[in-house]
Amino acid sequence: MIIISLAFILTLMPLDNFGTWLEIDLDRIEENFHILEKTAGCRVMPVVKANAYGHGLEKVALRLQTAGAQWFGVARVEEAMLLREAGIKTNILALGYTSPTRVPHAIKENVTLTVYDYEVAQQYHAQAEAISTPVKVHAKIDTGMGRLGIQRSEAVKFLKFLGESPFIQLGGIFTHFARADEPGAGTTQQQLERFNAILDQAGFADRGKLLIHAANSAGTLAFPETRFDIVRSGIAVFGLPPSNAVSLPSGIHPALSWKTRLISVKTLPPGHGVSYGFKYITQKEERIGVIAVGYGDGLRRMPGNQVLIRGTKADIIGNVCMDQCMVQLDHLPEAQIGDEVVIIGAQNSAAITATDVATRWGTINYEVICGLASRMPRYYLKLNGYD
Ligand SMILES: Cc1ncc(COP(=O)(O)O)c(C=O)c1O
Repeated sequence: MIIISLAFILTLMPLDNFGTWLEIDLDRIEENFHILEKTAGCRVMPVVKANAYGHGLEKVALRLQTAGAQWFGVARVEEAMLLREAGIKTNILALGYTSPTRVPHAIKENVTLTVYDYEVAQQYHAQAEAISTPVKVHAKIDTGMGRLGIQRSEAVKFLKFLGESPFIQLGGIFTHFARADEPGAGTTQQQLERFNAILDQAGFADRGKLLIHAANSAGTLAFPETRFDIVRSGIAVFGLPPSNAVSLPSGIHPALSWKTRLISVKTLPPGHGVSYGFKYITQKEERIGVIAVGYGDGLRRMPGNQVLIRGTKADIIGNVCMDQCMVQLDHLPEAQIGDEVVIIGAQNSAAITATDVATRWGTINYEVICGLASRMPRYYLKLNGYD
């Protein structure tokens, strides 16, 4: 009986235990994935780098594997290894740099690596030859992004070289768009034309054996002709728009809320400084609350932050500290210690999105969610017992 009760309590992981936490809805992520599959009309490779855009790498990938994902995209081989340890059996593509010394490990764990120049490809070949097992790779072509990728002028020769290397198993070819989130820019069509020209010139006898891919979320949604065999989608899987110029299909919604609590409420006299540097001084007698979240959790130390308390917006005042910050509560006389405070998410009929926060910070929603600190507990709705 006692054992059952303990297990029950642990499963519930009561939210009362935390000062600040993230609530993540895996059902929502799965639904977003299926809507994207339907919209794209091809396979979707969820991009789960950077801790699944802050949502928790292992939990998200396990759910999407069950939902039918056949590929995952990560930035680094270390992330791929975490996925394998968690029980991910599907294909994994490391989209970024992998040190040649990690090639044997990647081969052993069946992780596909990205090659984007001769030197790295030759080093991978040497590592694979030393253990007499080919390394699986996808070749990345720079059609205009100016980041990783073999230059256009070299691409056809490079693909031929890869195809003839006995210890390199070329399984795919891809490119990446610089401005798909700005559909009017005209550069995506240009990149696509270049990519198609290279694929045609390479003249693969059996292109069907290769996985061709190009589109990120914005490409998938705004440029249907970029979808090829599979699309690499990150931000849209997590229910956020890639930019204000690219809208999400209906039914896709954010999956993450960021919450904290009021941990102190007091009335300060006029002329009282608030927080480091006294950037805020009370004008009159003011009701000031303290919330248990700070820049150590990913809340930027800049003016203009807001939260929701009792369904109403409240301003964060004074400098954000590492673990706390203060809120102005004059318009919320009923607010009290223990109240739930929402930094990202909905409360009653009000909501603050990651995109709202990004706009305030002069950045993009990607950076907001990737900056959510690992020290915050990730609480999976339903999975942890909360409904
Ligand atoms: C190569 C590559 N493909 C796909 C993605 C996914 O992009 P998005 O989150 O915009 O869908 C990224 C993310 O930055 C990327 O670097």
